[in-house]
Amino acid sequence: MQQRLILVEDEPILRVTLTNDLTEEGYEVTAVADGAEALRVVEEQTFDVALLDLKLPKADGLTVLRAFKAANPLGIAIMMTAYGTIQSAVAAMKAGGADYLLKPFPTDELLILLRGFFAQRPVKIEKNAAHGGVRKFGDLIYASEKMGRVCELIATVARSDATVLIQGETGTGKELVARAIHSQSERRDFPLISVSCAAIPESLLEAELFGHEKGAFTGAIRERKGRFELAHRGSLFLDEVGDLGQAVQAKLLRVLQEKEFERIGGARTIKADVRLISATRKRLEDEVLAGRVREDLFYRLKVITIILPPLRNRTEDILPLAEHFIEKYRRPLGKEIRGLNPEACQRLLAYHWPGNVRELEAAIQQAVTLTGKDVLTQEDFSSEDGESFPGSQSEHALSLIDAVRGTERRYLEEVLRNVGGQRSRAAEILGISRKTLWKKLKLLSLE
Ligand SMILES: Nc1ncnc2c1ncn2[C@@H]1O[C@H](COP(=O)(O)OP(=O)(O)OP(=O)(O)O)[C@@H](O)[C@H]1O
Ligand SMILES: [Mg+2]
Repeated sequence: MQQRLILVEDEPILRVTLTNDLTEEGYEVTAVADGAEALRVVEEQTFDVALLDLKLPKADGLTVLRAFKAANPLGIAIMMTAYGTIQSAVAAMKAGGADYLLKPFPTDELLILLRGFFAQRPVKIEKNAAHGGVRKFGDLIYASEKMGRVCELIATVARSDATVLIQGETGTGKELVARAIHSQSERRDFPLISVSCAAIPESLLEAELFGHEKGAFTGAIRERKGRFELAHRGSLFLDEVGDLGQAVQAKLLRVLQEKEFERIGGARTIKADVRLISATRKRLEDEVLAGRVREDLFYRLKVITIILPPLRNRTEDILPLAEHFIEKYRRPLGKEIRGLNPEACQRLLAYHWPGNVRELEAAIQQAVTLTGKDVLTQEDFSSEDGESFPGSQSEHALSLIDAVRGTERRYLEEVLRNVGGQRSRAAEILGISRKTLWKKLKLLSLE
């Protein structure tokens, strides 16, 4: 990204030499000769840097400086003057000047000064975002076209009552999408009830979803409404729907087809006016092929499918999200953090984010909490042991075996986390025996 610089200098030779040197250094330079012209240009265009002579014809340098800072609050203003009195320096710094050079000065001094500022300065996020800049939809922040299309789809399906399946890797925002659908729909004044199918043991899930009558089983001392009933006229969000057991799948299929069910231990048929939104990290097609998910249920669930792309496939979203999370976490801490420096941006952009937005959020939260600076730099994004977190190129320096082990380890950890550490369940999901799983855990020192 080329930095835009305005140079205001009435002395022609200095103006021309500085223009040449700065252009060579990579700046896009706009050179003007007097104060009035400078005020006009500053009003019309935006700049990253101003290099200002303090003593100018037609309008003085301080006035130009103030106009520049008003139009470019993050812009860097450097003053040049042959009249290096303390008073004019103090006035310029008070008006937002970043530094001060006494004429004559070697060009190198100026260039070093500028490089120093740019290493410190937060990058303007809007500039990096794809056309249209950063957008918001419900609680979703995005800049990518991919997410733009997802949001259009959300807006369309929200108007209907169709059953929606949201597919995406962990941390891509499936729950946010479910909430956006509900809150944009006609059902918004009624509840959105969430159930995580993976978190509730199968034996309890049926009662949880459909409720039970008094005496339905030992311990059922009174009748209890299930989540379907609680969601009446609203929406039910079934998270990790790929983990549903067979019995619940059958009952769910019936609700989707006939809009009715019975509580456990009950004979009374209950009508449910519920919009079903489900989500999964797995490819449900594979679950169907493997015989774990009923095909007829699968087609009922995925009337409309919303696929959330992984963060690494929509890098335009990374910096706007980072900025959003900086703001979110710095406020409660009362920290003044202005953004990310260019190297930190590069690091975030280069990383592959296996945990997607959730991982990015955690990285920013940690950086904001621990930093003592007002700009986050690349050092704020490396782990204590100096490992490549997040993302440097070092992964490419790994042998194939180590790279595969790294991936295997992350995946095993994730699966184990999701099943609450139950080895037999994890082995089942991974399609390996418990013994093989045990060996792998030992090998990867996850034991
Ligand atoms: N586009 C986004 N804008 C703002 N925040 C986001 C966005 N996407 C995800 N997040 C945040 O990232 C975190 C993870 O999102 P969410 O819980 O919706 O992901 P998920 O796909 O349901 O993950 P999992 O499969 O692990 O349950 C949340 O804190 C959420 O607020
Ligand atoms: Mg989720």
